[in-house]
Amino acid sequence: MAGTGTSPSVVPLYDLQLEPEDITAVMEVLESGWLTLGPRTHAFEAAFASHLGVSHAVAVSSCTAALHLAYLAAGVGPGDEVIVPSLTFAATAAAVVYCGATPVFADIVGPHDFGLDPADVERRIGPRTKAVCAVHFAGYPAAVDRLAALCDAHGLALIEDAAHAPSADFDGRKLGTWGRAGAFSFFSNKILSCGEGGLLATDDDDVAALARSLRSHAMTSGTWSRQTRETDSYDVVGLGFNYRLDEPRSALLLSRLARLEPEIERRRALTRAYRDKLAGLPRVLLPYDDAGVTRSSCYVMPIVVDDDGRRDGVRRRLRDEHGIQTSVFYPAVHEFTAYRTRFGAQRLPHSERVARTEITIPLFAHLDEQMQDRVVGALREELA
Ligand SMILES: Cc1ncc(COP(=O)(O)O)c(C=O)c1O
Repeated sequence: MAGTGTSPSVVPLYDLQLEPEDITAVMEVLESGWLTLGPRTHAFEAAFASHLGVSHAVAVSSCTAALHLAYLAAGVGPGDEVIVPSLTFAATAAAVVYCGATPVFADIVGPHDFGLDPADVERRIGPRTKAVCAVHFAGYPAAVDRLAALCDAHGLALIEDAAHAPSADFDGRKLGTWGRAGAFSFFSNKILSCGEGGLLATDDDDVAALARSLRSHAMTSGTWSRQTRETDSYDVVGLGFNYRLDEPRSALLLSRLARLEPEIERRRALTRAYRDKLAGLPRVLLPYDDAGVTRSSCYVMPIVVDDDGRRDGVRRRLRDEHGIQTSVFYPAVHEFTAYRTRFGAQRLPHSERVARTEITIPLFAHLDEQMQDRVVGALREELA
C-alpha cells in the first residue's frame, strides 16, 4: 500500500509500507475527539511491554527523549561521565549533554562487530563515571552480558540504546531489557515507525515512575485522567518535559506491532540473501555472521570496503549510475564539530575506520528479489 513515493527507477535505502488497517486505526483516533496521550498510548505500552517481556514500557516522543529520561533516572547529572560509543547517531551522546554530563567515547570491537568493546569501556571507567550506554547497532546485540557484569562490578548503570532493536535478543532475552533502562525509536525510517516516537523499557519501578512523571511536566496527573474524572487537579513535583507520545501515533504503532515479527523475519531472509550473494566479493567485509543475523532485527545492511579512498566514489556511482540510494551508518560522533570542540580530539581507531569505509545498502521488509539483485549487481560492478 502507501509508500514513500520514491521514483520506481530508484532503489531507496528504506521504504515505508502501510496497510489499510493502519490507516483505519489512525482514522478512528482522528474521529474519536481525543488526540493526546490516552487509551491507545496505554494499550500500545502494554502490548510493547508484553512483547519485550518487561514490567514497564513508557511511551515518549522520541528515542532521544527516552535516552534523556534513562540517563536522568540513572542519576546522571552535572560533573558526571557516561561512556558511549562514537559509532552511533549523535542522540546517544547528546542526551548525556542534556543532563549536564560529559560523554566519554569508547571504541567498537572492530569492523566485523560494531558493538561497544567491553575492554575499551573498562579502560575508560573513572571516578566520575555514572553509566555506560550500549548501542545495538542495526539490532545486532552488543556484548550486554559482559557490559552488564562490568557495570555491576563498578556500581554503574547500564543503559541500552535499542533504537534499532525492537525485537532482537541475546541469550533468549530481548535487547533493551538487559540494562537499567532501554530506549527504543519509532522514527520514520526505523523498523517499527510512526513518524516520531520512542519508548523507555525497564523492570525498575522507580525508573518507570520517574520516566512517566518527567515525560509530562512532572504533573501528578495527566489530562486523560482528568477527562475521565479520575482526578480533577494536579501538582507539579519536579522539572519535567513535554515528551508525550500522542494517540494517532500510538494507534499506528499498535497496528504495525502486529506485523513486526514477520517483517523482521523477512529482513533476516533478505540479509542472509545479501550475505550469500556478496560473499567472496574481493576487498569487501560483511560485518557479523549468520548466527548474528538470527538474533538481530536487521535494521540496516552494512558493508565495509577495504580502502577509505574508494568509499565515497562507490557511493556516488551507485547513486548516479545505478539509481541506488545508500547511506553511512555512522560518521563518528567524536569527530563532529560540536563534540570535537567541546570535548577535545580523541582517537578511536576502529570507529574512525568504519566511519570512513562503511556503506549502508538498501534494506526494508518489502525489498523484492529484483531490487536486491540490482543492488548486488551494481556493487559487483563498482567494487570489482
Ligand atoms: C542509535 C540511535 N540512537 C538514537 C536515535 C534517536 O532516535 P529518535 O530520532 O527517535 O530520537 C537514533 C535515531 O536515528 C539512533 O539510530
